[in-house]
Parts: sequence; structure tokens; C-alpha cells
Amino acid sequence: MTTVLVLNGPNLGRLGSREPEIYGNTDFATLVEFCVRVGRELGLDVEVRQTDDESELVGWLHEAADASTPVVLNPAAFTHYSYALRDAIGLRTAPLVEVHLSNPAAREEFRHLSVVAGVATGTVTGFGLVSYELALRAIAAARPATGSDSATGRA
Ligand code: DQA
Repeated sequence: MTTVLVLNGPNLGRLGSREPEIYGNTDFATLVEFCVRVGRELGLDVEVRQTDDESELVGWLHEAADASTPVVLNPAAFTHYSYALRDAIGLRTAPLVEVHLSNPAAREEFRHLSVVAGVATGTVTGFGLVSYELALRAIAAARPATGSDSATGRA
């Protein structure tokens, strides 16, 4: 089974109590359960992590690059200014989908810039937990085809 890392940056561990008018009432534990369940339905072995520490997040991206592990990444505030994160994503050897619960383009000006989007495979924003589901679906669709349907490219 393909392993996928779902990595989350600063303050996302506070979902549920953090600005519920923007991020909703769903807590981080529910996000974890949701991603694992969606992953199982798609045949993906999903591991969800969260950190407030930029260096830890960079280390996880190195780990993913070394193992060619696909990544769903919500870089949270690092999205807007972390060149260290951008450079770590640039090392990737498998698809990486940037996700956001909210739609940063519809929020404050400083959120309009993503310094990581240019090195991601793609970006999904604005759909709450469904942003993560769509990202996992994109990764499942990007898997190399195997089995009897491989000639059609459909796994
Ligand atoms: C976020 C959007 C970022 O601008 C913000 O700093 C976050 C969460 C989102 O998921 O909507 O922490 O990444």
C-alpha cells in the first residue's frame, strides 16, 4: 500500500478552538481520523503529523524525499514566508499537494502569496477538510499504474 504523509504546520494542532469562524469547529483529532479514513478508501496508508517547529517540518520533508513518499502539506503560516520550507519541498521525489482549509486568496493581503506553491505539484484551498480529501484523491490518481489496467494508465 502506498504511504502518504499528511504534514501540518504551526497552530493547526489548535483546530476546533482556533478562529472557528474561519477554520470551523472540527478539531485536529477529527482531521486525523478523516484523512486516515479517506486514505483507506483510496488504498493509501496515511500518516498525519503536526508541528509548530519549522526545522521539524523540514526534517519530515527530507524524510519524504529520501523515501519517495507522497505528501499532503498544509504549511500554515510558513506558506507565506518560509524559503527553508520551499527549498525542502524542492527536494521532493514524489507528488506533493499544498492544502489550506481556508482560501488564503480571499483573506488578508499577506496570505495572498504562497512561497511554496511554485514547487508543489498542485494546490487545493478553501474547502475545509475536503481540501485534504481532494489532495489525497490527486495523489491516489498520480500513483504509477499497476495491474491489468496499466495499459490504460488507470490503476
Ligand atoms: C492555513 C492558511 C494560512 O494562511 C494560515 O496561516 C494557517 C492556516 C489554512 O489552512 O487555511 O495557519 O494554512
